[in-house]
Amino acid sequence: MKVNPVQGFSKLSKEAKTEWLITNYFSNPDEALTTLKSYWHTDADIQRLHDEFIENTVTNFYLPFGIAPNFLINGKMYCLPMAIEESSVVAAMAKSGNFWLDKGGFKAEVISTKKVGHVHFVWRGTNHEVLFKFFESIKSKFISETEKITANMRKRGGGILEVELIDRSDLEPNYYQIKGTFETCDSMGANFINTILEDWSVILQNEISKTSLLSDEDKYIEIIMCILSNYTPECLVRSEVSCRIDQLVEGSGLDGKEFAEKFERAVHVAQIEPYRAVTHNKGIMNGIDSVVIATGNDFRAIEACAHAYASRSGKYSSLTKVEIENNRFRFYIEIPLSLGTVGGITSLHPMVKFSNELLGKPGATELMKIIASAGLAQNFSALRSLTTTGIQKGHMKMHLLNILNQLEATEKEKAVIIDYFRHDVPHHNKVVEVFKKVRGGEVLN
Ligand code: MEV
Repeated sequence: MKVNPVQGFSKLSKEAKTEWLITNYFSNPDEALTTLKSYWHTDADIQRLHDEFIENTVTNFYLPFGIAPNFLINGKMYCLPMAIEESSVVAAMAKSGNFWLDKGGFKAEVISTKKVGHVHFVWRGTNHEVLFKFFESIKSKFISETEKITANMRKRGGGILEVELIDRSDLEPNYYQIKGTFETCDSMGANFINTILEDWSVILQNEISKTSLLSDEDKYIEIIMCILSNYTPECLVRSEVSCRIDQLVEGSGLDGKEFAEKFERAVHVAQIEPYRAVTHNKGIMNGIDSVVIATGNDFRAIEACAHAYASRSGKYSSLTKVEIENNRFRFYIEIPLSLGTVGGITSLHPMVKFSNELLGKPGATELMKIIASAGLAQNFSALRSLTTTGIQKGHMKMHLLNILNQLEATEKEKAVIIDYFRHDVPHHNKVVEVFKKVRGGEVLN
């Protein structure tokens, strides 16, 4: 289909947008419309809310919402809300929650909660010392002239912690930054930080134009951009689990020492081999992102930051570590998590409100501890399967239902086929073969 560019698409009504879309891109517009409409919410108010979260909305895109109960974190019981499309992840999470429940649970602590942002600019002058002297002479203005914007945050115990001039001309000739360090309490703080940074760029330009410290030709600066950094290595949380080595394998028939050492080797491989580290950390992010999404936080920011942190030594590595000492197994994660429990969609999205209530309305630091523990739990389950039974056994069982749904099996057919694969790995081709037999009326033996 050849489609002509559309003008003023964003100004069209939702109906007109939908009409343009289905007639230009779909061979069966009625079917496409039915699909879109089947995801509209029946409650018009909720639908309006969703329509207004983003732009050019034509329908909703649902993710399954699952629950992992029995999470003991710092002595408090939680039920984790998880929004994720991948089978096995919630089951693995729940398994891990149960496993650590009678072993003291997860112990988590927030190490620091600082966030940063920069005014990136070009200054072509030559006397750096004078630039720094000028900056010192106006530094207090970055605080005093933004007092109105920071008033509410200061009341909550946050605000601007530090303002610095950074010379980055080692990276790029004439490149400098005003770096701000912020405490944003229970909000993720993106709007707060970006508003301040944009004000700082105006203050900087005004003040430099007036200063007598710099010559006229050294007064010219070019603001490149003002933006918070999603890299927040100082908004850091740690969570750990530990137990006696024999407790690791209780009731499994495995040898505790052998299991612990194999587990340790698996983590070590992820520390030294980036090919494995990426998959290892992906599994951690299965747990983290699903709770991040359910609680209305920005999973792209969390992902970008986590992977940058995993590379901080110059080589991409595991976010978790393990120690075996004096017959004890200790497994922990250290990860930057910049989260909010107020602002954004937290008070708007009904399911986000639900998730936050389910978690007992945590503040941002409590949520950091919960989510770090979710990442650790997920990684523990994945490594336990990988180093013992292999991942496919459990995974394919969960995947079986997806295959059967794709084949549009009836509930009766599903029951028969699930029972058939009770002791067998349900590889796709085999499931299709068995499905055809069941559909054809054949009795399985
Ligand atoms: C699958 O989504 C995640 C795993 O591959 C993680 C891992 O390998 O550690 C199972």
